[in-house]
Amino acid sequence: MFVMDRPGSANSSSDLRGDYSAAAADFTVAQDWASYGEAEHERWRRLYARQSALVADAAAPQFLAGLTRLDCSAGIPDFAEANAVLGTATGWQLVAVPGFIPEEQFFAHLAARRFPVTRWLRAEHELDYLVEPDVFHDFFGHVPMLLDPVFADFMQAYGAAGERAMAMGALDMLARIYWYTVEFGLITSPDGLKVFGAGIVSSAGETRYALHDPAPLRLGFEPLRIMRTGYNIDRFQSSYFVLDSFEQLVDGLIGLDFGPLYLAWRDTPALPADQLQAGEINLRNRSEARP
Ligand SMILES: [Fe+2]
Repeated sequence: MFVMDRPGSANSSSDLRGDYSAAAADFTVAQDWASYGEAEHERWRRLYARQSALVADAAAPQFLAGLTRLDCSAGIPDFAEANAVLGTATGWQLVAVPGFIPEEQFFAHLAARRFPVTRWLRAEHELDYLVEPDVFHDFFGHVPMLLDPVFADFMQAYGAAGERAMAMGALDMLARIYWYTVEFGLITSPDGLKVFGAGIVSSAGETRYALHDPAPLRLGFEPLRIMRTGYNIDRFQSSYFVLDSFEQLVDGLIGLDFGPLYLAWRDTPALPADQLQAGEINLRNRSEARP
């Protein structure tokens, strides 16, 4: 779920496709797994088969390990079954939601180790692209990483940071952290660059593009640089930020005092995503130098 690409979007749910009428105060709904039809399970199987083959040698080992443990190739997963696996591994739980939810509730869920997962699956004509995240994006893209203990702790800390960012009028800055890591993050590995961001691993086109296309910048992980950098919501990214390890997320962000950074930069226009700043190095060659 990437709530931040439409800030304030769920203040009016009338233009969102999910059914919000039965949502609780925290915007959760029942998944109602029994209501999915065979055509939807079959569509999930095709999406899963295509994307799991594509990420097999493109995704970070932590993502692939999590995907294997979730064992969800046969059809739209039952969140209750996934919760048994997640609960044992990292204490996270999935909650079903109708779609985008307001930032306040989104952050509150993450801070309590609850991940909101959209309950509906994309339509047949949307296999390659859809505007709002669906259950395939939210589950296939996000849930495997929640089984990694380090990433799991980072996600909770991210949620806990939301209240202050909202209070200080700096939600855009915090949202860029999520965008450039949770959604579109890359990481180095002994085998070269790998993807782990949910927006990449759930997209056939962007999985190839993020790793192999010469056009986008690939920059080292630097929290303030990320918080100041704009992003593309309607096309592949112009910049990707590359972690050396997932511990970098914890070391670089948990304990970082965001307040002074918000005060210093919240009123400054974002840096363009496609421009290298003075002194920066495009890491693109790091992966190409490897056989
Ligand atoms: Fe997402």
